[in-house]
Amino acid sequence: MAFPETVTLVASVPATFDNNFAVRDQDMRNLYEKAKRDQWNASTDIRWDKDFDPEKGILPEGLIDIYGTKYWERLNRKEQLELNRHFSAWRISQLMYGEQFAMLVCSQLVNILPTLDSKFFMATQVVDEARHAEVLSRYVLEKLGVAYPLTSSLKNLFDQILEMPQWYLKTVGTQLVAETLAVSLFRMFEQHSPDPLISSICKRVLADESRHMGFGMLSLPEQMQELSEKERDEVEDFACEAAAGLLGGQFPREAYEAVGFSKAEVDDIKQMRHEIAQKNEYVFFRKYFKKDFHSSLWNNMSRCGLMSDRAIARLGSMGITAPQQAAAA
Ligand SMILES: [Fe+2]
Ligand SMILES: [Fe+2]
Repeated sequence: MAFPETVTLVASVPATFDNNFAVRDQDMRNLYEKAKRDQWNASTDIRWDKDFDPEKGILPEGLIDIYGTKYWERLNRKEQLELNRHFSAWRISQLMYGEQFAMLVCSQLVNILPTLDSKFFMATQVVDEARHAEVLSRYVLEKLGVAYPLTSSLKNLFDQILEMPQWYLKTVGTQLVAETLAVSLFRMFEQHSPDPLISSICKRVLADESRHMGFGMLSLPEQMQELSEKERDEVEDFACEAAAGLLGGQFPREAYEAVGFSKAEVDDIKQMRHEIAQKNEYVFFRKYFKKDFHSSLWNNMSRCGLMSDRAIARLGSMGITAPQQAAAA
């Protein structure tokens, strides 16, 4: 399927001018100070020429669905590395679109947020997300040599968040849920990728992401307390929906097709992956990503007052349980 060069969405947001220039939220100003202090440059702070060696592989092999199966054994080492390159390009492409989405939604937030303290910080997140989109796209285009389209499940979620008028729903979808997931992915890639270049990029991105999640934690809890019970239920539902939207529909079909698997084989791989996930034997993913994401999401939603019995049941149906239960699983 051809992917259009640009996609335009009409998503108007209110623009609030804050006439009070005094500092009213010192914690938010401190976060803004940290953001100014810790800026980095994707052109000069990444060792683009020194670190990359595709012969070692890109992302951890254990993440590739067919790793350890008959399909994997059938490939010679060169073909396994080629599949890793396409798989990694597919996976990092999704993050690359996510970074551009984050830049767009944060630029909306600069307008909507009610106070100058939070607008100042959010202006820095716009720059951070531009840098993340820049660094990941450069890696994908220059090093991996192939980019893949955004999945429809992510596109639907991004569009929905861009169209929402309330700042707190955008923040729940972006800083609370999507960035919690992105941090777990970046952390796993940073610690376990055979390629030191992507590992160093993820390390840089993670340092910025902790500020972004910090914005959610500083701004959301108080706002959630001001909502009616009905409104808070809607926010909780949306947080669960966003988590489902991020986790679903993420099968890299095009990467398998690119290395010569037939449609029937790719269907079989998809089915196999589903069965493995059901049996909870998807070891690498479970060990490094799932546990981390589930406990972070649980903790962050709890801190924002978004963990009623309804949310617990809804997350439970997605296999997301309280951290101590997850640890025992
Ligand atoms: Fe980012
Ligand atoms: Fe971010």
